[in-house]
Amino acid sequence: MDKRIFSGIQPTGNLHLGNYLGAIQNWVRLQDDFECVYCVVDLHAITVPQDPAELRQSTREVAASVLAAGIDPKRSILFNQSRVPQHAELAWIFNCVARLGWLNRMTQFKEKAGKNRENATVGLYAYPTLMAADILAYKATHVPVGDDQKQHLELTRDIAQAFNAMFGEEFFPQPEPQILGKATRVMSLRDGTAKMSKSDPSEYSRITMTDDADAIMTKIKKAKTDPQPLPSEIEGLEGRPEARNLVSIYAALAEISEEDVLTQFGGQGFGAFKPALADVAIAKLAPITAQMTTYMQDPAQIDAILDDGAERAHAIARPVLADVRRLTGFLGSSLG
Ligand code: AMP
Ligand code: TRP
Repeated sequence: MDKRIFSGIQPTGNLHLGNYLGAIQNWVRLQDDFECVYCVVDLHAITVPQDPAELRQSTREVAASVLAAGIDPKRSILFNQSRVPQHAELAWIFNCVARLGWLNRMTQFKEKAGKNRENATVGLYAYPTLMAADILAYKATHVPVGDDQKQHLELTRDIAQAFNAMFGEEFFPQPEPQILGKATRVMSLRDGTAKMSKSDPSEYSRITMTDDADAIMTKIKKAKTDPQPLPSEIEGLEGRPEARNLVSIYAALAEISEEDVLTQFGGQGFGAFKPALADVAIAKLAPITAQMTTYMQDPAQIDAILDDGAERAHAIARPVLADVRRLTGFLGSSLG
């Protein structure tokens, strides 16, 4: 079977360096060789409360950053999830395939629900079945994501397999995660043991795609480090999570190996390394930020791109769901 790429990103807050290095940069590369479907997952966003006006704005903003990063809407499909009703329809069917025991193991739910689990929405709990539906509605074979999504991909494979076994047919493929690049798990600038995340209350924990050169420089200069100079060998990063994180960010941005970063900076202190890191980050991000601003000045253009993407996505997902309905035993065809 031909390769088909699917990936998604939530429209909540600004994209950060973790999203870029862990996911978007790979999305851009993959479109040279494969049919790619990229989705702004607004149905996932509402698993936690959202202000409607802000959700609309964030959906356009995330689309603008993905486009600015280099997604070509002529080659790849870019759309927002809620436009294609097949996602929600298939997610319901998967809710009736997946078992409580499978979902109870999901670590992201535990992290996101926190201590007050009784108060989490049912949607937040069922989030991974919707993600499986996103992928399988397109019979996607490869899913470029950051390291944190590995468990959800395993669940997607389990659901595909269980569905196929239920109906005695190799209907869905077993999608492979593509955890690519040198920074598949970018850590917070304030704490080398916590993931860089949109939900971290500290602005200084992350570099966002809208940060200007001054903001990037300040955040990197304030980044937590330790007092020792950088080692010359990778082993010297052992037990130094903050140093390791900055080295891997440098390597990913400059597209060189971590060894090469250490050959260059081994023996030097952070006083020398941090400004060099800020320079590479600025060189990489400034053109993307500028392009994003241009897109945001023309929201009608973004909406037109998302409209076109939704139609093309619908044309793929609709016949897949027609087959799913038939296999499941539903009478008649869908009106969606
Ligand atoms: P989200 O914004 O949570 O929808 O994530 C979108 C994509 O960015 C997913 O593929 C995530 O795995 C990836 N991602 C999010 N945070 C990080 C991080 N700190 N490091 C690497 N990848 C990340
Ligand atoms: N759950 C992913 C995240 O939080 C976003 C997502 C939703 C996704 N549906 C997807 C990623 C399908 C890949 C494929 O980052």
